Amino acid sequence: MIVPGSVSQSLAAALAERLNEPLARVEQERFPDGELLVSVSEVPDRAILVASTVSSDAHIELLQLQDAVTGADEVITVIPYMGYARQDRAFESGEPVSARAVARAISTGTDRVLTVNPHETVVCEYFDVPAEPIDAASRLATPLPDDLQDPLFLAPDESARSLAETVRDTYGIGEIDHFEKTRLSGSEVDVAPGDVDVEGRDAVLVDDMIATGATMSEVVTQLTARDVDRVYGTCVHPLLTGTARTQLARAGVDAVFATDTVERPASTVSAAPAIAENL
Ligand code: R5P
Repeated sequence: MIVPGSVSQSLAAALAERLNEPLARVEQERFPDGELLVSVSEVPDRAILVASTVSSDAHIELLQLQDAVTGADEVITVIPYMGYARQDRAFESGEPVSARAVARAISTGTDRVLTVNPHETVVCEYFDVPAEPIDAASRLATPLPDDLQDPLFLAPDESARSLAETVRDTYGIGEIDHFEKTRLSGSEVDVAPGDVDVEGRDAVLVDDMIATGATMSEVVTQLTARDVDRVYGTCVHPLLTGTARTQLARAGVDAVFATDTVERPASTVSAAPAIAENL
């Protein structure tokens, strides 16, 4: 039985259909002091929890869902988007490894964890139960137009290059390049282009996530200045906080395509097939 988190409704429904599993009815209420309470209609033998941890509330909700199905023979926790994964080490003295802290908490209520394109796969080692990363990047080739001209698949930094390769391989044709990125603050980045000529070509940008949109907007701006033709922004996790989507539009992006690990208007493809294969 699929037990859906409140922010992963579409993905949980898609997964239930794909796996031919029933969906649990989950009710949620909030007490006057702000605390959450979830309840699950029944405790199945095998519970597959599907809940992105996009916020602190979503983390608490997941821990409550796990506790609510304590009587199940097997509990599998699918975290389509794992929040706090970017703090996968202490960057300054005195900082926590937040990814490790949340992984430990989540481990207490499950037999196994699956998480989609975590920022770095090292976070899977922070769980105290078997945890596997799932790669849903190939899904991002599906919504791209069929007639891309001399396409260039670009990553904003070297660490996202393998995602760009996956999307290119699935699309079938295209060159790969990556920018060099320096992060100046949480919402400002500096990107330096590679040597590949972009004039008159179609470009597909690929990243694991778009959060503030600073990274991808800066890349789009630079490509537009170098006379790129069409430019598409793609990512697995479309957090798209605040003004991210309009920043991208102002920079000149033609469309943004993403998966449903975070449910947004840009979530035009589902990560469900990639998750189902691993269940
Ligand atoms: C960072 O290394 C990630 O891969 C993304 O590039 C980054 O998190 C995107 O964040 P933003 O949209 O805020 O620039």
